Amino acid sequence: MTTPRPETLAKLTPVLTKRWLSPDAWRLGTYEKLDGYAALRKALKAHPDDLIQLIKDSGLRGRGGAGFPTGLKWGFIPQGDGKPHYLVVNADEGEPGTCKDLPLMTHDPHSLVEGVIIASYAIRANRAYIYIRGEAVHAARRLRSAVAEAYAKGYLGRNVLGSGFDLELVVHSGAGAYICGEETALLDSLEGFRGQPRLRPPFPATHGLYASPTVVNNVGTIASVPYIVLGGADWWKTMGTEKSSGPMIYSLSGRIADPGQYECSMGITLRELIELAGGMKPGHNLKFWTPGGSSTPLLTAEHLDVPLDFEGVAGAGSILGTTATQIFSDQDCPVYATYRWLEFYHHESCGKCTPCREGNYWMVRVYRRILSGQGTHEDLDTLLDTCDNILGRSFCGLGDGATSSVTSSLKYFKQDYLDYIEGRTAPKLSDKQLVGA
Ligand code: NAI
Ligand code: SF4
Repeated sequence: MTTPRPETLAKLTPVLTKRWLSPDAWRLGTYEKLDGYAALRKALKAHPDDLIQLIKDSGLRGRGGAGFPTGLKWGFIPQGDGKPHYLVVNADEGEPGTCKDLPLMTHDPHSLVEGVIIASYAIRANRAYIYIRGEAVHAARRLRSAVAEAYAKGYLGRNVLGSGFDLELVVHSGAGAYICGEETALLDSLEGFRGQPRLRPPFPATHGLYASPTVVNNVGTIASVPYIVLGGADWWKTMGTEKSSGPMIYSLSGRIADPGQYECSMGITLRELIELAGGMKPGHNLKFWTPGGSSTPLLTAEHLDVPLDFEGVAGAGSILGTTATQIFSDQDCPVYATYRWLEFYHHESCGKCTPCREGNYWMVRVYRRILSGQGTHEDLDTLLDTCDNILGRSFCGLGDGATSSVTSSLKYFKQDYLDYIEGRTAPKLSDKQLVGA
């Protein structure tokens, strides 16, 4: 284990995580003692359009993976249209490796509730939903208890803090389908239908929940809002880079000494994050990693100094995604890791479109063949050809995401595939597992 140098430690910028270690941080009393709901009082005195402008000025970008500018999205909501507006928080965190939203809701649920109220006021929504992953029972319980406390104190309900603004907030638990994290499938699920993606455009901003204008934002995005209201756009921009402003919660897992959540300015590098996390586990050397969950192309030890912001990671041929950095060592097999991710996508494919439904099914079978020592050189072409038929031809991002680790592992680690095919690596799967394909 290495000790982080002071200059690396200084890279930690606890903003959204700053209350996590306070005793009973999830209770209203603690939250209020630590500046809680001060931003709401300030926001309610401002004009909603000024709040949207503030978020635009801050440069805040979506924390769910895509990095869409938040203020711009809020600005898409038509005003004076006579329709109800909705805010929906996407808390269906399910990307493999991703684990930043659940601790946030468990440790500091009021920051999300406060963000919801401010965002709803800004977009003129009188009803908001938090759609939380079904398996996240503990986080949902904390969230529901925070919502109840907020109602009792007059932060929610009719005439919020005497401002004349009304807001009802519902916490809705999903039923365990990864696809319901896709924003339009989430809306279908919330409306009581089977969760499957809708065609976009039109985007939810104009045709969302119950065909009305709807902002769908990630937990981290909405929880950032109270800090920006209190601290101002210029303060927010002192962190991060010109186009990727603010702090970001990086979730480190895998072969490192101290896995967990590290909140740092956007643009930190993996080298610095690993140092913050006490270094690699003894006996392990970095081999490959995901910058933002399993839907993002793999990077390697060559990319240790890539700035982890939206532009930096894109420049390295990957995507920042959910900042879930899963770290693998020379003792891990990129072929097997890719197979496990593919099994996940195959299982979670909603079946609506052929490229994803059939392509993932067949790719899992090819991987099982390779990993059981029965693969052929042609299998590698079949994998690339199948990815080519999924990427850009699927109905939603799940299909595209499934191809990321396949194409990137073949790009960087073709030799590992050849070692199985040519018999230098012992099969990882038995004949029985192959038959199970
Ligand atoms: P996207 O880039 O298509 O859209 C991003 C957001 O901007 C959406 O809310 C969309 O409605 C809005 N938007 C885009 N163009 C618009 C326009 N012209 N007008 C109005 N609104 C517009 O990305 P998508 O497909 O929503 O999300 C993909 C990302 O999700 C990936 O980068 C992936 O990393 C991430 N992801 C996150 C997971 C998690 O558990 N947090 C799970 C799986 C994927
Ligand atoms: Fe469903 Fe996959 Fe098609 Fe998305 S890409 S609509 S998850 S089948």
